Amino acid sequence: MYVPFHREHHEEQGCSVTIDDGRQIAPPGLDDLLSEEAVNDPVRYYGRLRDVSPVVWNARWSGWVVTGYDEVIGGYKNHEQLSSDRFTGPFAESLRTQASTYEQLLTFLSAFFVWKDQPYHTHIRTLVNKAFTPRAVEALRPRVRELVRQLADPLEGRDDVDFFAEFAFQLPVIVIAEFLGVPPEAREDVKVWSEDLGAVIFVNGDDDERHRRGEEAMRNLVDLLRPIVRARRTDPRDDLLSGMVQAEERGDFLSEDEVIANAVLMVFAGHETTMNLIANGIVAFDRFPEQWQRLHDNPDLARTTVEEVLRYDGPIKAMARFAKQPLVIGDQKIGTNDRVLLAMYAANHDPKQFGNPEEFDIARMPNRHAGFGYGIHMCLGAPLARLEASEAFTYLTERYSRIEVRTPELRYNPNMVSRSLKRLHVAPHAR
Ligand code: HEM
Repeated sequence: MYVPFHREHHEEQGCSVTIDDGRQIAPPGLDDLLSEEAVNDPVRYYGRLRDVSPVVWNARWSGWVVTGYDEVIGGYKNHEQLSSDRFTGPFAESLRTQASTYEQLLTFLSAFFVWKDQPYHTHIRTLVNKAFTPRAVEALRPRVRELVRQLADPLEGRDDVDFFAEFAFQLPVIVIAEFLGVPPEAREDVKVWSEDLGAVIFVNGDDDERHRRGEEAMRNLVDLLRPIVRARRTDPRDDLLSGMVQAEERGDFLSEDEVIANAVLMVFAGHETTMNLIANGIVAFDRFPEQWQRLHDNPDLARTTVEEVLRYDGPIKAMARFAKQPLVIGDQKIGTNDRVLLAMYAANHDPKQFGNPEEFDIARMPNRHAGFGYGIHMCLGAPLARLEASEAFTYLTERYSRIEVRTPELRYNPNMVSRSLKRLHVAPHAR
């Protein structure tokens, strides 16, 4: 288990602070990952942290925060030494104490392969990948296009649209529900349950009410999905659940609970992230209106546009790992069981990697951002997220000369993982 940091004699070096075992530590004022600045102005916050050192010890979080591009990518690549497992090591303690109260939640969360290491991770990912092929995703394009139009057209002439409720929230949840094969009448429920689960996974700290709702949401999702999964065994259709039920690798199949856990993971992972990608993109375009016109004039820039939104203001700020053994990141020695936060948001603004990182340039090339992570856990749903966002931005620029942000002061939800606005009201101006 992690041993908290107790040393008291710090040596100040300019804005950086080093302690006697050579650790660079986040100076007071920069150690709060949920400060006003960290939450609402992460570019500035992470930039200041990176100036201290691309790898710093954060005593308040009890872990290392990695902000340099090379160091973040190096951390993602190093899955041998840096574990994703949330159910062993330093992340497990508080979860285990809750295991009897939140049984469903923990049973299925603990089957999410995103939180597993090799070999189990790769075994499950290989099977799920068989269902989640680029071809299967591409086949959704006409339907996604149709949905984008259905959601975008009614926004015309309105000067106060709740962009989440009416667009950004709707598109991904409908797409993933249909892709999985969830019946339309269950969609509204799926949305609510997915949000409740998100509150457990993305928000830090322990909070009984949130966990209770997460437990209930998980039970409801499992109850909804189990009969559908069983039906797909005997009566397969052209959807992702059928694909997962049938996926086979060397005589091995996903168990019923594994299919359900993966379906919940898709609902959850594919929904909030894509919603925030679209919303963050609208904010970026509002700041750089000439890029909106540029996309309108060159719709073939849709692909690089999505990559630039992922880099400039991507929906995931950071992912956590822990060290299975001692290792070195940058010039810092990481100890066994130390937690490590790989802040891809910071990496995506590292001037060593990106020229003019604060400029939103929809044709940026090359753009090797880390918005989908990197390495063996790199986002499996990336093709779907890219498809939805590119269809959304392309049609919105075609239909509207501007989508004006009306929320006077943009505020973000206080958590370390997702970059998500609390609300976003807009006025779409028709062409
Ligand atoms: C813009 C939208 C999205 C972003 C920014 C995003 C981001 C990420 C990131 C950063 C990871 C790596 C996690 C880690 O390294 O610990 C990840 C993994 C994953 N994502 Fe996404 N995601 C998005 C959309 C989706 C969608 C639409 C789906 C599915 C429908 C999805 C399914 C998954 C799955 C299953 C994993 C686990 C992969 C593994 O561990 O091997 N994501 N995502």
